[in-house]
Amino acid sequence: MHTQSGKIILLEGIHEAADELLAGTGLEIQRIQGSPDAARLKEYASEADVLCIRSRTQIDHSVLEAANRLCAIGCFCIGTNQVDLKIAAEHGIAVFNAPFSNTRSVAELTLAELVMLLRRIPQRNADMHSGQWRKSASGSHEVRGRTLGIVGYGHIGTQLSVLAEALGMRVIYHDIIAKLPIGNANPARDLESLLSESDVVSLHVPATQATRNMIGERELGQMKQGGFLINNARGNVVDLDALAAALDSGQVGGAALDVFPEEPKSGDAKFTTPLAGRTNVLLTPHIGGNTLEAQAAIAREVGSKLNRFLLEGATGTAVNLPNVDLPSRGPGQHRILHFHRNVPGVLGRMHTALAGLNVNINAEFLQSSGDLSYVILDVDPIEIETVHEELSKIPETIRIRTII
Ligand code: NAI
Repeated sequence: MHTQSGKIILLEGIHEAADELLAGTGLEIQRIQGSPDAARLKEYASEADVLCIRSRTQIDHSVLEAANRLCAIGCFCIGTNQVDLKIAAEHGIAVFNAPFSNTRSVAELTLAELVMLLRRIPQRNADMHSGQWRKSASGSHEVRGRTLGIVGYGHIGTQLSVLAEALGMRVIYHDIIAKLPIGNANPARDLESLLSESDVVSLHVPATQATRNMIGERELGQMKQGGFLINNARGNVVDLDALAAALDSGQVGGAALDVFPEEPKSGDAKFTTPLAGRTNVLLTPHIGGNTLEAQAAIAREVGSKLNRFLLEGATGTAVNLPNVDLPSRGPGQHRILHFHRNVPGVLGRMHTALAGLNVNINAEFLQSSGDLSYVILDVDPIEIETVHEELSKIPETIRIRTII
């Protein structure tokens, strides 16, 4: 494929903020509503040079087998589980996503929940809906001057830290990595100290072996009596039965949960949790990162990664390929992008083939990872078909693309 020709197919109603960046590649853009069935998906995959999806479209082995032209997949979401990344890599197909475009949305929801919990709004709201006017300051607090303990001081944790300090909170945090404190935040000595010092504990760690049930009966017992817990990270970080018991005993004063150990796959499925029915618990259906602003930010982030890949060959942000970035080509230069199996001698054979065609190489950058290598060559203008034909004869070649 030469960039400036070909088709980008967008599925699943991707936010239009992507359009300008994708149109900048010169490729034709086709938008399809919804996520197609398996047969239609294979058809689209066979027509597209770039396929843009969200989380519902499953790109498995059989779809990738049908995708002869495809050189990139844009996952306009956070995760990439819906794509068989290994097979995509074996086909030299770059996969991009937007891991941090919804950070702010999660931080804002957390902040709002924190205020709601300290003011006992879930209870007051339930009272009002059942016709009870309970005007009382009992158990209701300002957040100003209270201590927020953030577990996992990464992208979301640090954003939350800044927002909470703006409300006058004292912020402490715990992380497995030594992190630079933002603003006036301070690291806690360890998780136990954080739990015992915080009025509100907010979890922002990933799902790992170490974070599985990291907040259970013992840790809940280490919290301040009547403290609050927020989990907008991953469902299996908190032992929900232990939390239910701690809420019932009053050890924990209230909680907000956006994520659950088992989440329904679709809106039709029934949702159950041991925390249901408690008026001091805020439950939301994993919507921490779901805002229109986050959708637009995701569209811009993945759109710009695809734009750079298509116009320059940059894979620096691809999740499944060797990461190669090279400055923009010099004027009049052509750029050859070559994915090949990582075995000795391929580069030498490429050099020989290009020398045989009298092609002058001006810049070269190679990166290998596992079985795969990716080399970018900037060359004087070439006869594209002839160069592709010669390089294709190298048996380890997986995919060639030229940018002119
Ligand atoms: P991040 O990778 O930037 O930060 C995570 C932090 O947790 C890192 O600083 C890491 O060192 C730390 N950490 C890892 N293991 C730890 C442990 N055992 N103890 C203490 N700290 C530990 O991630 P980011 O973007 O801040 O996201 C945090 C969580 O929020 C992730 O689980 C993510 O999946 C979840 N999330 C939830 C969303 C929602 O809709 N509710 C949306 C976006 C993210």
